[in-house]
Amino acid sequence: MTGRQTVYLAREVPQAGIDRLERACEVIVREGERPPPHDRLVERLAELEPEGLFCTVSETVDAAVLDASPALRVVGTMSVGYDHVDLAAAAERGVPVGHTPGVLSETTADLAWALLMAGARRVVEADRYVHEGEWETWGPKLLLGRDVHGATLGVVGLGDIGTALARRASGFDMDVLYSHTGRNEAAEAELAASGVDATFRDLDDLLARSDYVSLHVPLTDETTGLIGERELRLMDEGSVLVNTARGEVVDTDALDRALSEGWIRHAALDVTDPEPLPPTHPLLEHAPERLTVAPHIGSASVETRSEMATMTAENVLAGLRGESLPHSALADAGYD
Ligand code: DGY
Repeated sequence: MTGRQTVYLAREVPQAGIDRLERACEVIVREGERPPPHDRLVERLAELEPEGLFCTVSETVDAAVLDASPALRVVGTMSVGYDHVDLAAAAERGVPVGHTPGVLSETTADLAWALLMAGARRVVEADRYVHEGEWETWGPKLLLGRDVHGATLGVVGLGDIGTALARRASGFDMDVLYSHTGRNEAAEAELAASGVDATFRDLDDLLARSDYVSLHVPLTDETTGLIGERELRLMDEGSVLVNTARGEVVDTDALDRALSEGWIRHAALDVTDPEPLPPTHPLLEHAPERLTVAPHIGSASVETRSEMATMTAENVLAGLRGESLPHSALADAGYD
């Protein structure tokens, strides 16, 4: 026994985070590519009795997890989103929860932009066309996409990631609309300084006017199913829907019908409901012509994942020391 506190990592994460923790405590990392099944996570916490839990978006942290280790003093999730953590249960038990806001905004906006461009210019479909040996000649009408420059971008949720995405429109001479819980004048000013005039619209109006709609809302009771049949029918039939937020923000059955019946032209998704999307899921029948899907890699750059791991370690260490967390999900969600 070293007398040092123990932190259990539910996943293998970038080494920078592990190194940071190892300087101050005992670190036990669950090996393997897959997340632990929920009952296995509970079991390990009960066996190891760690003071800290370092988790990711793949683990559901509910009352059973929070109660498994009697010594638990802090949870750090290596994500900005905390919809997988029962914050009310954590607050009730006095267990602080850390997350990683800000650090991944630009990286996630990069991926949202890549998906938007891929959907617009049929990049994945074109790649598949070449690989399948169909490229026999240059074609005047081959794989025609839609312009991004000069088009209208609708940003749903003008938080850090939505603002970073909107800023990318400045090089493309786009009209930028946004919807939010209310006007976000600070973000509007920041965008104006980058040459983007972002205009506030209600969601229905934004959906009806935009060629590209990109979702950047957190998953809450209010945003679950935000984009359903009614909303998809409001969109232009030439439009592209991009989702790098959470799969549950979009009603999957409604999206399936929208793509089958051509209510919109393309959906480019980094997140799905269910997630992971099984290879036999009906939605995948729309790929690649009407659907582009990535496996939840919005923040997946070497630099950003390393910073997220370090930031999560800092949150956990602060919790172990009994200090306020540098990035508290409970505070950000209004619990303290
Ligand atoms: C997050 O941080 O919430 C992402 O979804 C995972 O990186």
